[in-house]
Amino acid sequence: MDKYSKMSKSIKSKKISSNSTILVTGGTGYIGSHTIVSLIAAGYDPVIVDNLSNSKVSVLKRIAKIAGKKPPFYKIDIRNQKALDGVFQKHRISSVIHFAGLKAVGESVACPINYYENNIGGSLSLFSVMADRGVKNIIFSSSASIYGEPSVIPIKEGTMPAPTNPYARSKLIIEQILQDIYIGDPVWRMVILRYFNPVGAHESGLMGEDPQGIPNNLMPYITQVAVGRRKRINVFGDDYPTSDGTGVRDYIHVMDLAEGHTAALKKIVKMTLIKSKQKPLIVNLGTGRGYTVKEMIQTFAEISGKKIPYRITKRRPGDIATCYADTAMAQKILGWKAQRNLSDMCADAWRWQSQNPKGYV
Ligand code: NAD
Ligand code: WQD
Repeated sequence: MDKYSKMSKSIKSKKISSNSTILVTGGTGYIGSHTIVSLIAAGYDPVIVDNLSNSKVSVLKRIAKIAGKKPPFYKIDIRNQKALDGVFQKHRISSVIHFAGLKAVGESVACPINYYENNIGGSLSLFSVMADRGVKNIIFSSSASIYGEPSVIPIKEGTMPAPTNPYARSKLIIEQILQDIYIGDPVWRMVILRYFNPVGAHESGLMGEDPQGIPNNLMPYITQVAVGRRKRINVFGDDYPTSDGTGVRDYIHVMDLAEGHTAALKKIVKMTLIKSKQKPLIVNLGTGRGYTVKEMIQTFAEISGKKIPYRITKRRPGDIATCYADTAMAQKILGWKAQRNLSDMCADAWRWQSQNPKGYV
């Protein structure tokens, strides 16, 4: 028994069959849980694997409340190949959406070994089991952070990647591993999605972002100030070459992002029907529009009716001035476009945080 085996739930041998069965790694996490709801709404049968290192099992009840059914869940670390293989034996998986990974940039600088071991090691373990079981359709969660400081905005997928931290490098390395797997076996069908800045929550207020400890990201920090968990927000620099001096990002509603995955799955199915080579697709998921930190704070304050005290502090090391997506590829290849605006993102994030001040309990 390897060091992760004790985390795995025992899996009975009877196979559950369905051609719409999708394995979702990291499916109890922020983006994963919202994607599960989207998948069920689109008629898929997701199966979740997560080690709960950054999520809570109680999200499953919320999923069931929204979607009307509770997907099968396995508490497994994806580095545990044996346990993972058990899930493939039990369910007739047709495609995998791979969210599982660590995502905090600062932590990745402090603990690069953990990040490479978890993100790259976990992905290799997953790809190996997939190859052995002949499941060769994958959608992978990559990140706009792989672009680093872009010289041309909006950012197109063809931009030369220039990651600036171990987290972003781990994502780029996994992208490259996938490309190599495809070269070795062009039967694989792959969609690599590069997310910009996911924010917001399910419109019911039942699911949302629940960071552990002090939030690293802007939106959950703002919502925690609004709900009284934190006094004020530190705005990291107001001397950037932007309209008000604060950083500009492409914030995308998490449900739009979730729907981007169902669009990618439909694309994968089409790619599978074509017998000739189908190169891995790389697609940005963003809105194509940027907002400054001050615009975010102001819009959130207006929508929530709450004061959001802030103070300007020095720049956060590694931050860039402006980053937003060129979304033409997503529209052309996936037929997908973000539908929700900044007011929706703020209103839904606030509904979630105000109804769940302590997150999932
Ligand atoms: P999250 O932390 O909420 O979800 C990730 C999930 O993966 C968690 O539930 C965690 O418990 C699980 N996990 C981590 N390592 C695992 C392992 N070895 N085995 C099994 N489960 C494991 O993060 P999220 O925001 O939902 O992000 C999902 C994916 O999208 C990640 O790969 C992340 O890098 C990527 N991404 C996120 C953002 C963002 O800003 N949220 C932006 C770009 C890309
Ligand atoms: C947004 C803006 C900050 C917090 C990160 C990762 C990236 C991706 C998304 C995973 C910036 C400012 C923030 C605060 C602030 N994740 N800010 N005060 O840095 O664009 O991207 O999350 O892939 O990899 O790097 O997002 O939300 O941290 O910051 O002023 O307390 O808000 O300076 O301008 P970022 P963010």
